[in-house]
Amino acid sequence: MSEQLDDAGRLKHLLTLEGMPRGVLEAMLQRADALAEYAHGGSEMRDALAGKAVCTLFFEASTRTRCSFSLAIQRLGADLLNFDASFASTTKGESDLDTLKTLEAMGVHGFIVRHKMDGAVAALARSALPGTVLINAGDGRSNHPTQGLLDMLTLRQAKGPDFSAMKVLIVGDVNHSRVARSDLHALHALRTGEVRVCGPASLLPDDDTLHGCVVGDDFDAMLDGVDAVMMLRLQRERMSEGLVTSLDDYHRDFGLTMARLRRAAPDAIVMHPGPMNRGIEITGEVADGPQSRVLQQVANGVAVRMAVLEALLA
Ligand code: CP
Repeated sequence: MSEQLDDAGRLKHLLTLEGMPRGVLEAMLQRADALAEYAHGGSEMRDALAGKAVCTLFFEASTRTRCSFSLAIQRLGADLLNFDASFASTTKGESDLDTLKTLEAMGVHGFIVRHKMDGAVAALARSALPGTVLINAGDGRSNHPTQGLLDMLTLRQAKGPDFSAMKVLIVGDVNHSRVARSDLHALHALRTGEVRVCGPASLLPDDDTLHGCVVGDDFDAMLDGVDAVMMLRLQRERMSEGLVTSLDDYHRDFGLTMARLRRAAPDAIVMHPGPMNRGIEITGEVADGPQSRVLQQVANGVAVRMAVLEALLA
């Protein structure tokens, strides 16, 4: 947490939600809620970051995070530089740090970075010029803070601002999921009433990640009465690694179907960060059904990323 704060305790980068004070999180969610009306059109906010240059520096694939950051940057009036690692000099062996320094020299003020290595974004932040802003768009299995924020905004819109009254269930491959880690950091900071985690033992972390959670592998029992079900993508390579016996078995034990969803509270919402494996961790009927908030999450991504950019760069 201290790596992302300046001497006065203000955010200078956004690297993680771990240790983030509840008040800072709530202020960010309130601002995102207020910005929602500007997130999907209009030009009212175009002066907010006028004259700034922001680069989406993605070393891993993305649809939702990259596109919503690109829109958020443009809605706030900043110059957008989309860095495409597959056509850049990184393919000739240029290091990530030399890439950052090269773009800083062109006057780029902010970098939205996704990287497969844990800690890669924090390492770049340590080497950046004073005043350069780094925003973590997902590093390894560690952090995806803006996904955590947009998930909290989605919960807040559906269930109200009092998280202490909520029971939230996270299901699936928590061990390899940066989304789950950021969600857990945020849910704990917001003092959620009960956080349950369900998945096969082979896909659950055995460190202190699940501290404070109710943990189990009986999906039907864990669904009982929850207000929100957050499904995670099954990364298919887990089968070749022997962590999952078969996709059919996984669907039978941990797939969310309409029949299963009836065990949750009648007004429970269903969330998934995407991309979804329809028919594996979630059926199409649930993903497209009335309790699904999957597209609301996507929509909230633009507003949340506007709020983060404004807080760090305006
Ligand atoms: N949720 C998420 O991070 O999706 P993308 O990989 O498409 O950005």
